[in-house]
Amino acid sequence: MNGQSPMGLAAAAAAAVRPCRRRLLSSATAASAARITSTSLFPRCPHPHRQPHGRRLPFLASAASHSQASQSGQNISVTPVPADPRAAVSGSLPFFDRVLFPDTSPLAPATEEAAATAATADEEPASATEAREETETEREAWRLLRRAVVSYCGEPVGTVAAEDPECTETLNYDQVFIRDFVPSALAFLMRGETEIVRNFLLHTLQLQSWEKTVDCYSPGQGLMPASFKIRTVPLDDNKEAFEEVLDPDFGESAIGRVAPVDSGLWWIILLRAYCKITGDYALQERVDVQTGIKLVLSLCLSDGFDMFPTLLVTDGSCMIDRRMGIHGHPLEIQALFYSALRCSREMLVMNDVSKNLLRAINNRLSALSFHIREYYWVDMKKINEIYRYKTEEYSHDATNKFNIYPEQIPSWLVDWIPEKGGYLIGNLQPAHMDFRFFSLGNLWAIVSSLTTPKQAEGILSLIEEKWDDLIANMPLKICYPAMEDDEWRIITGSDPKNTPWSYHNGGSWPTLLWQFTLACIKMGRPELARRAIAVAEERLAADKWPEYYDTRSGRFTGKQSRSYQTWTIAGFLTSKMLLENPELASILTCDEDLELLEGYACCLSKKRTRSSRRAANSHIVG
Ligand code: GLC
Repeated sequence: MNGQSPMGLAAAAAAAVRPCRRRLLSSATAASAARITSTSLFPRCPHPHRQPHGRRLPFLASAASHSQASQSGQNISVTPVPADPRAAVSGSLPFFDRVLFPDTSPLAPATEEAAATAATADEEPASATEAREETETEREAWRLLRRAVVSYCGEPVGTVAAEDPECTETLNYDQVFIRDFVPSALAFLMRGETEIVRNFLLHTLQLQSWEKTVDCYSPGQGLMPASFKIRTVPLDDNKEAFEEVLDPDFGESAIGRVAPVDSGLWWIILLRAYCKITGDYALQERVDVQTGIKLVLSLCLSDGFDMFPTLLVTDGSCMIDRRMGIHGHPLEIQALFYSALRCSREMLVMNDVSKNLLRAINNRLSALSFHIREYYWVDMKKINEIYRYKTEEYSHDATNKFNIYPEQIPSWLVDWIPEKGGYLIGNLQPAHMDFRFFSLGNLWAIVSSLTTPKQAEGILSLIEEKWDDLIANMPLKICYPAMEDDEWRIITGSDPKNTPWSYHNGGSWPTLLWQFTLACIKMGRPELARRAIAVAEERLAADKWPEYYDTRSGRFTGKQSRSYQTWTIAGFLTSKMLLENPELASILTCDEDLELLEGYACCLSKKRTRSSRRAANSHIVG
């Protein structure tokens, strides 16, 4: 991040470099000494009303109107959200859905009026959200998820990546990973336990851009860590007092030393989900939170040498965090980037400075969706076009813009591409298309409306058609197909963890179930998700909730897989809860934005005539 950036973030950026620590005192003397000397570096998160496990949750439909107003860039007057979410239940906010979860302990209504409202709702006829007895597997999953919770100074702040009692070599699986926590957060949010998510969001914000270096080089300001760990260290010279410190890892300790590009994007996506489900919009409007969003955006939107609207990243900068040949413009990052831009646009408080930022976001969103929809999409027709491409075209209106040699079409694809449906390829670079199918990128492109609705349907239809390749014995293949032989040797650097059909190289990752469920719900195909969940439910508990599965059909537990992997557990719970409360999917999804299509049409009109613009528009919406 450049301090003189047009977004005027210099002062804010400085404020974002904050060590995150709190003191734990082991004696009264030390306590009083510390009270005098220590200023609280960390802002206390006010949690005036601890929320009991399993309660009625106000899911604010008013969130939709709030976000629409923000999207259109109006200077919105924000609906005042009471600090106590129970006030929302009492009906002091315009609309809300009521969701009842198993194990709910009724929340004491704040007023008599609220009691009356609650009583009426309780008498309403049974609906799809009626309480259901949890299965044994779900009960076990909840117990394990709670076991994975870590606390910082007595407050829950996240979940460790894995809590495997049989594994002696923890590596960094005892850390709270930003991306891994997302499904945990969603499970807790949907159960009404919002405190842990709020704490997580605020603590990771404190860690953003903390000065850490790899061999004298600092990561860009705005970078969120891949993970953090809570350490207890002695307080200065005082042997009686200790302090707890949050220790982030920006990739400087990670295997391969890769900066996690996805962390900041996930943080923004989760922030929006938290605010939408709780109605606590005051959180997103806090100055430090607004600064956090702008720093992430600033890092992503800064100018570089790249000609594409997609984000240029190194290999391993996302869920696939080892060398797998995804450097360049991998789909997963582009889908998360698009989603984070859409979420930020809803959350940014409008003023003169953010007006420029909003313009930059809108421009990028149009260009990005145009680029992905046009150039990443493949189906039978498109593959056939590529097959007949002319090469070495030098001009503005070349058909084969990226100079793709048809010989690149892999032999597996020729037989694999179905008549119906299609997908977004994994990566696009000059003279290179990575034709592998990457699940997370495709699913999140559906969830965020990066694809057209027709493309979204096409992706689900392909997954259905290729069920035995992508789901088989365990949902879901991280990518298809695996790289083998020389390709594996050259591209992974002979990585023994990423052998063919294992781990990132064609392994099956049950955590991806929640993203699949979300995409299915969005596209009105919950039955597909239900089928996949049934496959997973049969095995996960018996297999001790593995991190991943191996082999072409996902039959074996992964060679080096952890047991009791938290995002496997949370992904399963989140999938089940989403299916039962499909209206909650909207805290994560974005709808097709018709205004953006105008920008999209402009991109098209640069290369087509004015008269074809209407035709282009109908193609996009279709
Ligand atoms: C592995 C995965 C990564 C995950 C981490 C913790 O490194 O590749 O995506 O975040 O484990 O579970």
